[in-house]
Amino acid sequence: MAKVISILMNKGGVSKTETSLNLAYGLSVKGKKVLLIDMDPSSNATSVILGLDNNLSEQGASQYKELFDKYISEGQPRILACYEAMHEYLKQTPYKYDIHDVLEDQKLDIHEAIQKTRFENLDLIPSSVALSTTDIKLKGSINPYNRLRRAIQKVEDEYDFILLDNQPFENSLSFNSITACYKEGDLIIAPTKISLGGIQGIDSTLHTILQWMQEVESLRYDFKLLITMKNRNGIDNKWTDILHETFGEYMFDTVIRYQGKPVADASMNRKILLETPKFGVAEDYQNFVDEVFSLS
Ligand SMILES: Nc1ncnc2c1ncn2[C@@H]1O[C@H](COP(=O)(O)OP(=O)(O)OP(=O)(O)O)[C@@H](O)[C@H]1O
Ligand SMILES: [Mg+2]
Repeated sequence: MAKVISILMNKGGVSKTETSLNLAYGLSVKGKKVLLIDMDPSSNATSVILGLDNNLSEQGASQYKELFDKYISEGQPRILACYEAMHEYLKQTPYKYDIHDVLEDQKLDIHEAIQKTRFENLDLIPSSVALSTTDIKLKGSINPYNRLRRAIQKVEDEYDFILLDNQPFENSLSFNSITACYKEGDLIIAPTKISLGGIQGIDSTLHTILQWMQEVESLRYDFKLLITMKNRNGIDNKWTDILHETFGEYMFDTVIRYQGKPVADASMNRKILLETPKFGVAEDYQNFVDEVFSLS
């Protein structure tokens, strides 16, 4: 049965997506069958894995205008025509279903949303901007927090690892992600950088998952902190040492260094760092992948 790993931190810009991508790719290169689920409406992981071009084009503006004209000719008021046209324009993705369909439509077979990728052992359930309203929609439903777990259970036998890249807020999407980690061996990885916001993120994330574990006793996952984007200065060194000392086995030995250019270049070219493993930060991610692999 697949080991479910959720990359979770109630804080933006701390390398959740970078970590998800490199872990998914690294495990797939080791011959493991991996499913990465993009649980973030900003769809950054989806863009990299599927190599999508996220830039606006002049042609895009014309497409939007054509849709607007269509709605106006149908007699829609201007502001509604603007909205409908924009919504329809943004909905044009190269995939038919994404994770918001899986979470909102319990009759949809999760297999319909799985995309093969350019990587042999790595499949993806993409995300889209439509996921941004899923949180509110789920809140009004019965059992809003076990949708993802139920869907995942239908493909658990087909993968060695199922990875979840999360958005940075505590809401029903993150609760679904936590609930999807329910069995012995499942893992929540909490990436964070050394900054006040990063430490506040640890505090908030720990609060969420400790509270959740108390309420839902059947959850049996492990938890591990991962220090990312570490600089070589006194504050980062001291905090990293003290966090290692205090968190002990709840923290990865590997620490990911801050290395701006290779990470920015890879992301701009829609590549995963480990695809060209010649930089220090890629070496760190390889050590991290090996550490996760050794846990399984
Ligand atoms: N080790 C690193 N060194 C330098 N830059 C990095 C490193 N890791 C990530 N970055 C950059 O930092 C930014 C945030 O990283 P990332 O998107 O992975 O964070 P995130 O936690 O997923 O953010 P969000 O909460 O918005 O989804 C990105 O521009 C990324 O390219
Ligand atoms: Mg992200």
